[in-house]
Amino acid sequence: MCGIVGAIAQRPVTEILLEGLRRLEYRGYDSAGVAVLTGQQEINRSRAVGKVAALTEKLQDSPVVGNIGIAHTRWATHGIPAEHNAHPHMSNGRVAIVHNGIIENYAELREELKAKGYQFTSDTDTEVIVHLIEMHMTFGLSLPDAVRKAIENLRGAYALGVISADDPDTLIAARQGSPLVLGLGLGETFIGSDIQAMLPVTSRFIYLENGDFCVIKRDSLHIFDLSGKEVTREIKESNAGMCTADMGEYRHFMHKEIFEQPVAVQSTLEGRLGVDNLKHCVTGDNAMDILAVVEEIQIIACGTSYHAGLIASYWLEEMTNIPCSVEVASEFRYRRRPPRDNVLFVTLSQSGETADTLAALEKVKQDGSMLATLTICNVAESSLTRESDLSLMTLAGPEIGVASTKAFTTQLVVLLMLVGLLLQAKGESPETVKAIVENLKKLPILLEQALEKDKAIEHMAEDFIEKHNALFLGRGDQYPVAMEGALKLKEISYIHAEAYPAGELKHGPLALVDNEMPIIAVAPNTGLIEKLKSNLEEVRSRGGKLYLFADKAAAMQADDDCYVIEMPEVPEILAPIVYTIPLQLLSYYTAVFKGTDVDKPRNLAKSVTVE
Ligand code: AGP
Repeated sequence: MCGIVGAIAQRPVTEILLEGLRRLEYRGYDSAGVAVLTGQQEINRSRAVGKVAALTEKLQDSPVVGNIGIAHTRWATHGIPAEHNAHPHMSNGRVAIVHNGIIENYAELREELKAKGYQFTSDTDTEVIVHLIEMHMTFGLSLPDAVRKAIENLRGAYALGVISADDPDTLIAARQGSPLVLGLGLGETFIGSDIQAMLPVTSRFIYLENGDFCVIKRDSLHIFDLSGKEVTREIKESNAGMCTADMGEYRHFMHKEIFEQPVAVQSTLEGRLGVDNLKHCVTGDNAMDILAVVEEIQIIACGTSYHAGLIASYWLEEMTNIPCSVEVASEFRYRRRPPRDNVLFVTLSQSGETADTLAALEKVKQDGSMLATLTICNVAESSLTRESDLSLMTLAGPEIGVASTKAFTTQLVVLLMLVGLLLQAKGESPETVKAIVENLKKLPILLEQALEKDKAIEHMAEDFIEKHNALFLGRGDQYPVAMEGALKLKEISYIHAEAYPAGELKHGPLALVDNEMPIIAVAPNTGLIEKLKSNLEEVRSRGGKLYLFADKAAAMQADDDCYVIEMPEVPEILAPIVYTIPLQLLSYYTAVFKGTDVDKPRNLAKSVTVE
């Protein structure tokens, strides 16, 4: 993970770099650092453990000033969060770098460099890169050539920003695997892990491709591809700066983003629904022709996005009769599967930069085993959208809280649309398409109604403050909803939580149930409600306390050991989307009561760009 930012300008850049880091904190926040070249051609560096605020505070006492610089916010991979492991890393006061990614062969490079007399001051994989560059400069190479030579030795993933006291007018950027974007200003150029970092200073961007290497000066920019050939990359204008990424009246981004869901869903639906059909909203060549011949679907994702994929597999198989498999990307990418015909490969991702998901996509592109690749993603111009044949965007707006909320519900919306589009493309079941369209139109209102339970759920969450474990139950397409509820709770409140299909309880987990174990169940009145009720009785008779989210028709009786929050009546097809809301709120309030860092939970980062 980690976020990097860099700038070369005719004005002091430290504030620009710090603002960039604040906007990249979602990528990691265990330490931060900045290095600038001073007027005296020295590299001045400052680093601090903790969030960017700690670095900002340190810089108030001892400022660093210069017109060219690099900065970094870290998510530790190699070496604990500590000042000596924070970036930028330096070699002999001559070169400084920031790095996002993982160097797989760092251990052998470290030994070689040590044998050559280099002293290591950190436990990171990154430090080998800066010493390699310095070594090549000592042999007489220019800064750009030394960086080129150094990266020839690297195995793994990197996005790099490099400056040197020997070449005070040059900023080097390079990308392989990890994302990196250039921001173009007037007589100034910026680099960043994403455009958010640079939106305060520019709206013109170049998305670098894998293997790109850039030599950036105040008045020139040269980009070379993997083969060393100079290339021109398209400049994209972004209006993302118009979207606000502030908390408004809310205490946390997560709370704001939970409440934004009706609007996010509305934006995702905007212009895509006809009277009784869906508009052709998949981007990419021959999209509908491809959908018409799909015989099987393979969904790949991580974390919350994986849960959205699981829910979609119920919908896809029930409504389109197309077999659908769902797998987490980190497993799929290393597994051999028998070849199958006409498989649509679907990746799901909020960020579009998740390393495992990207690697899975890369794998199927290389072996040519899929009919086509489609990504469902929240970030236009992300690596996944650029690398996939087709894309279907969620339009949730920027999601800042590490815990994914509105990205999940808008993914589900788009997945339901995909069900309808597949049926349309195949000329099948217009009545199902019509039902999907009509139900989707009702969704924003139903989400509003679910959000009205906010206060009641806040009250319920008080029961969880002292808990150390929790079990989440669901059946059918509510089982992945329960999985998502458990992930949310563990992620932000640090309570150990697991989800089970309710029918599986008696095969083991029932042994965990006693009066200390809260059992949370999502219980809309679907065809499986009676089965679920029997499972819940098994819990009650063993002293477990129940926390249920159910509609009136489910007829759940509240008592001292059974807390019921009454949910709005929803069409069965929409229940997984609507029942996600109370679970998000339950996790949110539990975390608030426990005093955890809701938007930046420990050890996590928003965008997981390392394997
Ligand atoms: C969810 O709350 C998570 N923070 C995490 O599981 C996330 O969904 C996962 O890392 C995948 O991210 P993506 O959707 O950006 O690919």
